[in-house]
Amino acid sequence: MSAVLAIGLRKQFAVAGRTVHAVRDVSFALAPGALCAIVGPSGSGKSTLLALLGGLDVPTWGEVWIGAANVGRMSAARRTRFRAANVGFVFQAHNLVPVLTAAENVALPLTLLPLSARERARRVDALLDDLGLHDLAHHRPAELSGGQQQRVGLARALVTAPALVLADEPTAHLDSRTARDVVEVMRAMNRRRATTIVLATHDVAIDALADEQIALCDGVVARRHERRREPWPSSSSDSPSATCSVTPGVPSLPPPPSRWLSCS
Ligand SMILES: Nc1ncnc2c1ncn2[C@@H]1O[C@H](COP(=O)(O)OP(=O)(O)O)[C@@H](O)[C@H]1O
Ligand SMILES: [Mg+2]
Repeated sequence: MSAVLAIGLRKQFAVAGRTVHAVRDVSFALAPGALCAIVGPSGSGKSTLLALLGGLDVPTWGEVWIGAANVGRMSAARRTRFRAANVGFVFQAHNLVPVLTAAENVALPLTLLPLSARERARRVDALLDDLGLHDLAHHRPAELSGGQQQRVGLARALVTAPALVLADEPTAHLDSRTARDVVEVMRAMNRRRATTIVLATHDVAIDALADEQIALCDGVVARRHERRREPWPSSSSDSPSATCSVTPGVPSLPPPPSRWLSCS
């Protein structure tokens, strides 16, 4: 079963009497544990597509499946509950609550789940350790660097152990070295936990770390590229042997990276 399946997705917005086609007939499947980059120029539909995949918005047409769940068929209330348990979001500006500590920010999504206080604390501690944030647990966001803030944002997205993490330009406000570091952490979590990650990015260096790229242009999938995945480390016997599926007939040619960010 696919971790994420998009079937003929369309999203239209009515703006001042005209229709904006933000996403047009987008279809793809991602296998569990895939790390996929959505690339394309500003306005090409990346954020809209992520919102549809995560059930933050509903398509005008088409279907989104996350595992065995048809997200578009759910009532708004059920979709909210489903999202809380199954999807983690990482935002461009990490959106941390300034008056809360790193640990309290990470714990926030757990308040929506039926867990004991002890289990919440255990999960937060384990994740802060995993992401090298243990010593910063009691710092407020203003006391952290941009890269550390985005790591806290990532910890918050992962703390519910979601099957799917959606990240919308998570490195947009970071220098290139810190950006790479944050995405390396995402990739490590993707490998270790087999979390499926879909990442919208403008950054060619970040894009290069993904297993698969989907290039959008004016809301349409202009190109698709799959990179051969490294094998799972033999020490982690519980890791699935995941691969990204590629739509039949779409050639897996490595295009020059610079072309991915334009519609030419
Ligand atoms: N809520 C909205 N209302 C009207 N138009 C929107 C809305 N959201 C996005 N759009 C339009 O849809 C297109 C795609 O936007 P977006 O998904 O934000 O692209 P990207 O993330 O690639 O920059 C743009 O033309 C944008 O102006
Ligand atoms: Mg965007």
